[in-house]
Amino acid sequence: MTFVVTEACIRCKYTDCVDVCPVDAFREGPNFLVIDPDDCIDCAVCVPECPVSAIYAEEDVPGDQQDFTPLNAELARQWKPITRSKPALPDADEWADVRDKRAELRR
Ligand code: SF4
Ligand code: F3S
Repeated sequence: MTFVVTEACIRCKYTDCVDVCPVDAFREGPNFLVIDPDDCIDCAVCVPECPVSAIYAEEDVPGDQQDFTPLNAELARQWKPITRSKPALPDADEWADVRDKRAELRR
């Protein structure tokens, strides 16, 4: 099992999740974070930290977000670790309530 970052993170990237992860499992892209499934120890402490509720246990990922599980694994192999929080993207608050933003994902 692992935890998975889903669509709500795209163009927000608040990074509050990063500071609490005991195993530095987050990887950073230009406008999205993912969790490396090989490092995540399923502790769940990152879930309540995310202001847009983007993080789910793999078994609880909503039906319309299932593609994010393999996407996290794929991008985790390409992106670098992020181990400390940083300022959110400048227009994060404007994107926080946008639902359909897969097309905004930059790799
Ligand atoms: Fe890190 Fe725990 Fe979140 Fe996994 S569930 S990414 S180990 S904080
Ligand atoms: Fe993304 Fe939420 Fe973390 S917006 S960077 S999963 S705090």
